[in-house]
Amino acid sequence: MVFIGSDHGGFELKEKIKEFLKEGGVEIEDIGCFSTESIDYPDIAHAVALKVASSNSKGILICGTGIGMSIAANKVKGVRCALCHDAYTAEFARRHNDANVIAFGGRTTGLEIAKQMVNIFLKTPFDGGRHERRVKKIMELEEI
Ligand code: RB5
Repeated sequence: MVFIGSDHGGFELKEKIKEFLKEGGVEIEDIGCFSTESIDYPDIAHAVALKVASSNSKGILICGTGIGMSIAANKVKGVRCALCHDAYTAEFARRHNDANVIAFGGRTTGLEIAKQMVNIFLKTPFDGGRHERRVKKIMELEEI
């Protein structure tokens, strides 16, 4: 299961990414928003982050830039949300950071790049090895 959410700034891109994922047979749950009416992105980031953290799954968050969504999602224990801009950042968010949520911008990212990033994010495994130790250190910061 992949949880997806956006604010008004990411709504249109979210709808297109949903279609893309459905066509690819990916099971998704849309946490909102459901129109271009202005809303507060932390509410959606929080809801998606809680779902991801409690079900050991992945999430996709889209706002105007992806910045607010990523900042908010990373406040939730167990979430490693990566703000990505291209195939390279999406790949290494998985390989080195074991990111479980990807964030990007509806106003900054084109549809084809977004599709490419989502594909890579969902398919690329964590490299482990030395990165395991580093990710563990990140997660230990939640206990301070
Ligand atoms: C909303 O206008 C905008 O601030 C939001 O979508 C996002 O870009 C925040 O980081």
